[in-house]
Amino acid sequence: MDASAIEGELTSIVLTTEQLDTRIKEIAAEIDRDYAKSDKSVLLVAVLKGAVMVMADLARAISIPVEFDFMAVSSYGSGTKSSGVVRIIKDLDIDLSGRDVIIVEDILDSGLTLSWLIKNLKSRGPKSVEVMTMMRKPDAIKVEVPAKYIGFDIPNEFVVGFGLDYAEKYRNLREVAILAPHIYGG
Ligand code: IMP
Ligand code: MG
Repeated sequence: MDASAIEGELTSIVLTTEQLDTRIKEIAAEIDRDYAKSDKSVLLVAVLKGAVMVMADLARAISIPVEFDFMAVSSYGSGTKSSGVVRIIKDLDIDLSGRDVIIVEDILDSGLTLSWLIKNLKSRGPKSVEVMTMMRKPDAIKVEVPAKYIGFDIPNEFVVGFGLDYAEKYRNLREVAILAPHIYGG
């Protein structure tokens, strides 16, 4: 779905498909270089559901062999605020011991979910754990998350598209856009 089809529901486009595509290819090239000497294939771990688009595009732009796994988590908290208390809804299938892991995320907001996830995955005996996030909201970071690969710093606004949803809608929007306030019911 293109932003032009739902113009009235969006305030502005934050990232175009070209920007997303170019940046993903740059990050993939960095990952190719950084893990060229890795003895086992790199394990990409995406957090469902938002990171699915990033995972699909990043994995295809990477030239070295990778494996995929997925995890679903839910953070307890009121409404849209993350509390940092996380429950695993779907755990990984693959054993992490001795593996080079890259967590693939859509957006780093408060950082609470991701900092919990890094600790959790590190406790499973991997060789390394790094983070790739497509977007980061700099104003919103409460917990310092060491993300090695960052796509874009974006303004502190609620965005949708490229996997990100509002009430499960807009995930298939090709661009990243700010949702118009009237959509929130405000
Ligand atoms: P946090 O970093 O623990 O606050 O949680 C980040 C998660 O909140 C992301 O993985 C998204 O699922 C969701 N999120 C944060 N900001 C946005 C946004 O602007 N639009 C849609 N989802 C968001
Ligand atoms: Mg997410």
